[in-house]
Amino acid sequence: MRLFPVVLAAVAVAYYVYTPLPDNIEQPWKVMLLDTGFRTGMHLSSLKTWLGYGSHMEYVKYFMEASNDLLIRLFGSESSQWPGVKVSDIIFAGVPVRVYEPPAGGEGHLRRGIMFIHGGGWTIGSTKTAVYDMFCRMMSDELNAVVVSVEYRMYPEVHFPVPYLDCLTAAKHFLSREVLTRYAIDPERIAVSGDSAGGNLAAAIAQEISVDDTMSVKFSVQTLIYPALQALDFKTPSYMQNEFVPPLYLSYLVQFWLQYLAGDISLLSQCLANNHSSLQHSKITPELRARLDWTVLLPPKYKKNYKRVIVEKVSQGAVKEVPGLLDVRASPLLAGPEVLAKCPRAYIVTCEHDVLRDDGLMYTRRLQDAGVKVTSIHYEDGFHGFFSLISWPLEFDVSKRAVRAYLDWLKNNL
Ligand SMILES: *[C@@H]1O[C@H](CO)[C@@H](O)[C@H](O)[C@H]1NC(C)=O
Repeated sequence: MRLFPVVLAAVAVAYYVYTPLPDNIEQPWKVMLLDTGFRTGMHLSSLKTWLGYGSHMEYVKYFMEASNDLLIRLFGSESSQWPGVKVSDIIFAGVPVRVYEPPAGGEGHLRRGIMFIHGGGWTIGSTKTAVYDMFCRMMSDELNAVVVSVEYRMYPEVHFPVPYLDCLTAAKHFLSREVLTRYAIDPERIAVSGDSAGGNLAAAIAQEISVDDTMSVKFSVQTLIYPALQALDFKTPSYMQNEFVPPLYLSYLVQFWLQYLAGDISLLSQCLANNHSSLQHSKITPELRARLDWTVLLPPKYKKNYKRVIVEKVSQGAVKEVPGLLDVRASPLLAGPEVLAKCPRAYIVTCEHDVLRDDGLMYTRRLQDAGVKVTSIHYEDGFHGFFSLISWPLEFDVSKRAVRAYLDWLKNNL
């Protein structure tokens, strides 16, 4: 009799942890545990918010930071592997950054420069998050690069455009002669890089710096890892195919977008239906829509049998507008060809099991159409967030392959 509650509890836990996954994801149980951690963070914070204890996302943040601290404490992974890299937390024109300097090279020898912008839905994550910190140490060491990781402000403290402006300010300071001289960085070999929401910011910064005539030094390459690039169409094939694929469920992503843009969170279900970008929205011109028309921009193998969803008319009257929805600084995929043509060479990582797959693939195609050289790397067995999960216990073979390929590409192209 006593056993019964135990069995029941075990079944309940298994049910909670178990998430159906696409066939070719390796180590599915590890992905499920990762997802369980993330979902539990989201659930606990909803519960606390529901009970009236402050903002939902603040708790997700606490939860993530606590698990990060635990990881660092348990595995001491922070610095042991790249002891030669010097790390300092300093301020770049008012913006906190973490700078990684490689072990000293020969006298008078110029190093590469990399500005790194971490992901986390413009809400969670930090330069100090274990996976990002380790990744930056590794880049600095392996690429003989001075890496600058930006501690931009995030939701709920601020909304768009503040995170973007923080990154832009830090980027301009980084690219100044004074800073490049101080760190012995080659002005012809500077990259801007980011993953997910950080890829969004990296792409937006790359565009702005490219068209800014007052900037004499510009980024020479951009590396975007499963970037989020638009918020008009939440029904591209990858959004539909991966709606329930962990850890980035479609509804979480839309929630992150609404928080970033200071949109009303009650618009979530309207956004999921694409009602927020219906034909009633007079500012969304056919020209703008063409810039993210996946029926034209995606290779046929990704389109499958999906149909484009453009809502003509929302029956219950106009949907409240999402601020910044058409701002190219928030949605770099909306930029015109004249801007894209000036952008630096790109390395774009996408993965099959990721709602953001098509954002990256469409941007690849649009940059190429504008004459920019793009290396597009697609991981059939990749899932959102897989990149840089290279240290035990959160390690995946696909992540190790992806990081190796990324570093090799930068060695040859930066
Ligand atoms: C979106 O608009 C359609 C068409 O008016 C409507 O039928 C549907 O209920 C709306 N969806 C939501 C979530 O409001």
